Amino acid sequence: MSKQEELDILKQKIVDNLECPLKDAATNLVFGKGNPDADILFIGEAPGAQEDLQGIPFVGKAGQQLDELLHSIGLSLDDVYIANILKYRPPENRDPKTDEIRSHTPYLIEQIKIIKPKLICTLGNFSTKFVLAKFDVDGMKKIQGISSLHGDPVDVQVDGLSFKVMPLYHPAAVIYRRAWKEDLEKDFLKIKDFLL
Ligand code: URA
Repeated sequence: MSKQEELDILKQKIVDNLECPLKDAATNLVFGKGNPDADILFIGEAPGAQEDLQGIPFVGKAGQQLDELLHSIGLSLDDVYIANILKYRPPENRDPKTDEIRSHTPYLIEQIKIIKPKLICTLGNFSTKFVLAKFDVDGMKKIQGISSLHGDPVDVQVDGLSFKVMPLYHPAAVIYRRAWKEDLEKDFLKIKDFLL
């Protein structure tokens, strides 16, 4: 079975099995986009309004930022896969709650196990903490914030998987913060180094 077929089955499993109040308010499940055979997986936080309407991650303003950053290092959606911690939009784009992270991330872990990326780029605090805590929701509290971790790659082994993690600022967070944007651009250049 191809990775795409495995992901299609997983997506249906979420539709059938994920019980969460966010689902009732959401328009669409936002599962993932890109190339399932790519070596690089980006993990964002949660769908926003545009993502909820279209059922596709990173299609709004943050998505434009991410597209520009990918293009700046010569990458496109063919070279990466993109998913989120939460599969349904939180109201008013509020932060994910611990219970929501707990119920949604088993599916993210399955996505990661299907894709088997060599590099996981975590976008923002929630995905960085979840991945660096080795998928342990309670362990997330012990992980530092993104401002001290961004740009420094970390080797992670968990659940029989082995990958490098590149913590990055969330593209939505840099829209109005020039200094963070410059940091994010520099950190993207390090992703390019990884590809050499
Ligand atoms: N922000 C995210 O973290 N994910 C999306 O899909 C869109 C915006």
